[in-house]
Amino acid sequence: MFHCLFLFCFVCLSDLKALLADACQGDRGGTCGIEWLLGIIQNMSSPVLPLETVATLLDELGDSLAGLTQTESQDDWVEYGDAVLQATNKLVSTLVEPTMTENTRNLTTNHTEVRIDSVGPNVTLSETPTIHIKEASLDINLLYIANKSNGSASVALVALIYMETVLDPNLLHTETDTIKTTISRVVSISLPKTNISLLPGSFTLTLQHTMVSLIVVEKNL
Ligand SMILES: *[C@@H]1O[C@H](CO)[C@@H](O)[C@H](O)[C@H]1NC(C)=O
Ligand SMILES: *[C@@H]1O[C@H](CO)[C@@H](O)[C@H](O)[C@H]1NC(C)=O
Ligand SMILES: *[C@@H]1O[C@H](CO)[C@@H](O)[C@H](O)[C@H]1NC(C)=O
Ligand SMILES: *[C@@H]1O[C@H](CO)[C@@H](O)[C@H](O)[C@H]1NC(C)=O
Ligand SMILES: *[C@@H]1O[C@H](CO)[C@@H](O)[C@H](O)[C@H]1NC(C)=O
Ligand SMILES: *[C@@H]1O[C@H](CO)[C@@H](O)[C@H](O)[C@H]1NC(C)=O
Ligand SMILES: *[C@@H]1O[C@H](CO)[C@@H](O)[C@H](O)[C@H]1NC(C)=O
Repeated sequence: MFHCLFLFCFVCLSDLKALLADACQGDRGGTCGIEWLLGIIQNMSSPVLPLETVATLLDELGDSLAGLTQTESQDDWVEYGDAVLQATNKLVSTLVEPTMTENTRNLTTNHTEVRIDSVGPNVTLSETPTIHIKEASLDINLLYIANKSNGSASVALVALIYMETVLDPNLLHTETDTIKTTISRVVSISLPKTNISLLPGSFTLTLQHTMVSLIVVEKNL
């Protein structure tokens, strides 16, 4: 059964909760559940996963992270929050669909909102449209990025609900002596499966809330 899980076939995915309960002997509170999930995601080598698989894993991650705040000390939150961000970006990158022209994908789960835009060498757009999710919108010159890459590029905009509790601004160490306020959603921008070493040019991220969010920008090959 475990062997099967690593292949992430549909049948086995329905057993995820049961396997997780097994692995943690029914107690998925604490760090057991989240460690188990992060381990599985880290070990995944498939560059493409079905939407359902990604949705389930994203929600399990969110549940585990929320559970962590009930039991563990704040010192652990940031570390796990960061690991969940990385695991999320890895999962999201498996949703990228190669295209000759352009395509978009979206996914809304209990804990995340995902939108991925991709362009290819035969793109028909003359400019990149604004990318919208409920929590935020993003203006980024994906066509320019594709041109600086090999003709193809993707951008993923992800809102992580729950993450704002975990990545409480007061837990983050900053050099400057700023006043840290309650934040809104944590929004992650990544360039999955895009071969570029630096984010070229600028981008504009507009957030739905009035407070400043934590923003994570990451290159993700
Ligand atoms: C991930 O892979 C490592 C090394 O192959 C293995 O030791 C570990 O048990 C795996 N983790 C999970 C959760 O399967
Ligand atoms: C999402 O939330 C609903 C309602 O709480 C729950 O029934 C469902 O199982 C959740 N989905 C996942 C994948 O956790
Ligand atoms: C996903 O995108 C499609 C087409 O752009 C749209 O019709 C649909 O409402 C979107 N779904 C979500 C959950 O955002
Ligand atoms: C992409 O463009 C090239 C050259 O412009 C053309 O030869 C090719 O057929 C196009 N491919 C698709 C899938 O449109
Ligand atoms: C980038 O744009 C230049 C100028 O339009 C063009 O000559 C070049 O082929 C483009 N490169 C790619 C990878 O699309
Ligand atoms: C990424 O780009 C570099 C330099 O442009 C190139 O050497 C490398 O092969 C590319 N990697 C992939 C996976 O396409
Ligand atoms: C560009 O490189 C990416 C990986 O870096 C690859 O997935 C994609 O197919 C390549 N596109 C073209 C047009 O070669």
